[in-house]
Amino acid sequence: MKIAALILAAGRGQRFEEDLPKQYYILEGRPILRHSLALFSAHPAVTTIQTVIHPDDRTLYNESARGFDLSSPVFGGETRQDSVRMGLESLARENPDLVLIHDGARPFVDFGVIDRVLTGLESTPAVIPAISIRDTIKRSDGNGQVVETVDRSNLYASQTPQGFEFSRIFEAHHQARGENLTDDAAVARKAGLSVRIVKGDSANVKITSKADLLYKKSRGGGDIRTGSGFDVHGFKEGDQISLCGVDIPCDSALRGHSDADVALHAVTDALLGAIGAGDIGAHFPADEIEWKDRESEYFVRHTCTLVQAMGGEITNVDLSLICEKPKINAYRSHMSARLAEILDLPVSRVNIKATTTEGLGFTGRREGIAATATATVRMG
Ligand code: CTP
Ligand code: MG
Repeated sequence: MKIAALILAAGRGQRFEEDLPKQYYILEGRPILRHSLALFSAHPAVTTIQTVIHPDDRTLYNESARGFDLSSPVFGGETRQDSVRMGLESLARENPDLVLIHDGARPFVDFGVIDRVLTGLESTPAVIPAISIRDTIKRSDGNGQVVETVDRSNLYASQTPQGFEFSRIFEAHHQARGENLTDDAAVARKAGLSVRIVKGDSANVKITSKADLLYKKSRGGGDIRTGSGFDVHGFKEGDQISLCGVDIPCDSALRGHSDADVALHAVTDALLGAIGAGDIGAHFPADEIEWKDRESEYFVRHTCTLVQAMGGEITNVDLSLICEKPKINAYRSHMSARLAEILDLPVSRVNIKATTTEGLGFTGRREGIAATATATVRMG
């Protein structure tokens, strides 16, 4: 299933009243747009990310997108609706099954919202996240006089990402060309699509004016995350295995796709766990040719980029190898140095332990190696 994320960043942010467009304003150390790019990049179901930008912002955009694997941006138009249509046109080449259309000015979106939209799309062609209205709503006569209190029981404030079957929303946007509808659900409704509401998130605000930055999620220095990882590979005939990227002579080799580096696989899972980004199988599917014979080191490095992109800093990694053979001790310092290099951490923040299982179980029978890892990440 091909799922594209279309991220809108071509607006001028007039209501924000700053010299630079609001999506490039720095929030928690990173441009507002980068928050969404990081989250969608880290989501295992998203296969393509297409951004829509303003031609004047190329340099700002390049800075915000540094390090991510994104399609080249396309330029947007006068209105948000024009920008979405232009983005959908560029996606038409690869014709995704689903598209998630997201305001680059909503930096606090999380996996919960994205997952609820994707789940909704399993049974309906258009889904929006929305929250119920808490304030009492008044209608005025246009001159400051209240004429009516509006029943709010069925009113919702819509958010993004709004999710659609790609071909349906593509068609709907072509039909609605020239209007100025402020969200894609309105475009979908005009084309007669039924649109389902799923639970949004009150933190998922769109930054419109400076005051909206006060909503910023509090995730100061105390936001420490921990992840754990576990992996096993069985022995096969051979004379060498790779652990933490170090080749170790052994009277067996390890079975498995890529270099079967059980240690680096456990570390990758621990890091993904710490940032809430699923597991190694979702990010690097074994049946996809792209990952087929990649060295495991690549998985760790790519995951480190995700951690950084999400504003995280790895504070330490602890790894345990469980096996009767090979004897790890002689290679331990070499492996620590290599792992620290791959993680770009000082060696003092990496620890490698080894144990046998006293002859018990599959490791005791010398059938393979197990590895467990813990990673700690401080979110900035
Ligand atoms: N957007 C866009 N192209 C436009 C207008 C808006 O891609 N021509 C994007 C914005 O960059 C933003 C999202 O659509 O991520 C929501 O729009 P809005 O909050 O209105 O942003 P701006 O149009 O930039 O702000 P303003 O209306 O205050 O000028
Ligand atoms: Mg606008």
